[in-house]
Amino acid sequence: MFLHYYNATVMISKKKVPAQTKTKAPSAKKVTQKIDKKSAPKEEKKVAAVEKEVLLMQPPRGMRDILPVDQPYWERVRKALAVACQEYGFSRIDTPVVEYANLVTKTIGEGTDVVDKELYSFVTKGGDNVALRPEFTAGIARAYIQHGMSVLPKPIRLFSTGSVYRYDRPQEGRYREFWQANFDVFGEDDPILDAQIIHLAQRVVSQLGLKHIEFRINSIGTAESRRDYEKILVRHFEFQKQKLCQDCRNRLVANPLRILDCKEDKCAQLVISAPKFMDHLDQESRDHFKRLQEYLNELEISYVINPQLVRGLDYYTRTVFEIYSTDSEGKKTALGGGGRYDRLIQSLGGEETPAIGFALGMDRLVLEMKRLNVKLYQESKPKVFLAQLGELAKKKSLRLFSELQKNGILVAESFGRGSLKSQMRVANRLGVEVALILGQKEALDETVILKDMISGTQETVTQDKLVIAVRKILKGNQVVVAKRAEVIESSDI
Ligand code: HAM
Repeated sequence: MFLHYYNATVMISKKKVPAQTKTKAPSAKKVTQKIDKKSAPKEEKKVAAVEKEVLLMQPPRGMRDILPVDQPYWERVRKALAVACQEYGFSRIDTPVVEYANLVTKTIGEGTDVVDKELYSFVTKGGDNVALRPEFTAGIARAYIQHGMSVLPKPIRLFSTGSVYRYDRPQEGRYREFWQANFDVFGEDDPILDAQIIHLAQRVVSQLGLKHIEFRINSIGTAESRRDYEKILVRHFEFQKQKLCQDCRNRLVANPLRILDCKEDKCAQLVISAPKFMDHLDQESRDHFKRLQEYLNELEISYVINPQLVRGLDYYTRTVFEIYSTDSEGKKTALGGGGRYDRLIQSLGGEETPAIGFALGMDRLVLEMKRLNVKLYQESKPKVFLAQLGELAKKKSLRLFSELQKNGILVAESFGRGSLKSQMRVANRLGVEVALILGQKEALDETVILKDMISGTQETVTQDKLVIAVRKILKGNQVVVAKRAEVIESSDI
């Protein structure tokens, strides 16, 4: 019965497999089909009578596979992040993909798009109200308090990376499942840390070969000055309430600051003439911001002050910033953003702990790298191929493979193939320098045939001398390559 069902499913899936990208995801309803009763054999008719939902050969909308062909870009990003963590002293922390929904809501804030519109929240079978993390800071702040990290020497620098989830309208560079690299620093409020965090962000993007980067910075003051500013904003927009979109009319009551980053054209127009936060900043934040600029100047990081920048998450105080890249047509893409959140830990029940952090959108970094055709790392390729012929040789070659591996020699093989000819074809395609051949005779004699694929010479060595013999050939080839390079260089002069 299972087999029949499986066949029927495959039959339909073959017809209807949608392309991975570009095509719109069909809804579950659309792909519910009836199995063709006439062509189905008797037994299958029973199954066919029931309407079967075809397995959708694609992930949910806004989510995607990152295929091996793209992994070198991701690998380069991961390596740049690992270097940055080492250089700036960040330790990695991994938190769950799922958190209690009220932690996320309390951290990010009611009235933000991330909480009100984009949260993947659900009730578990046990009745817990949980959410897929839409960013890292909520979980990290929770972990910081839960594990008593406040007793550790400050500042505490934590790095996280992984997938995050926002139910947004998908488009190029905007996904429902995407990846972030997140850096957070706890325990110091000196603006030198803000400058250092921005420097780190710059270091990572420039290491990835991304040019035309713009930093936008602003200060949104302390929680108190923010409350005062919100009152001023409400007074300003009350007059023009009718011109705002429905969301912003609600924001006017629930979270007026969010009007400043509304994406609706009509609201953006009204925002231009709105009072600026900078003009209502408390003196302490003003000084903090001034010192940040001095540090950035010292680091020769260019930036623009954007008084409209408030960020879409509620926990920020004082410094906020975003990183944009610009393409040749002037189109700007947000690669990352962050800021200070000096009150968050306390508001979640922890000790008073100033903090600053930011996240880079890894998917966007990769898109930009592709757009700019940046060079990728060449993965080390195996220089040795191990071929075998016959059952005994196949068995013995497993041990040889492991022996070479243990000695740091990368080996390719094609154990699944029987014929020597087809295995040597693979060896040629891979461009290896040495082919090792183990037949029935060699397996019994405990020897191996070594073929130098560059000179074409061949020798037989005992298996206990194999590693030495392989190294000798590889070293000899290195000398030949180096000599050739020397000749080319001298003929250039
Ligand atoms: P965010 O600005 O919401 O900040 O996200 C950071 C970056 O994630 C964005 O600049 C963008 O590159 C990427 N991103 C955001 N949404 C999407 C999406 N739908 N698809 C693809 N990429 C996206 C935060 O998340 C803060 N938690 C950063 C932070 C850490 N602040 C303090 N510490």
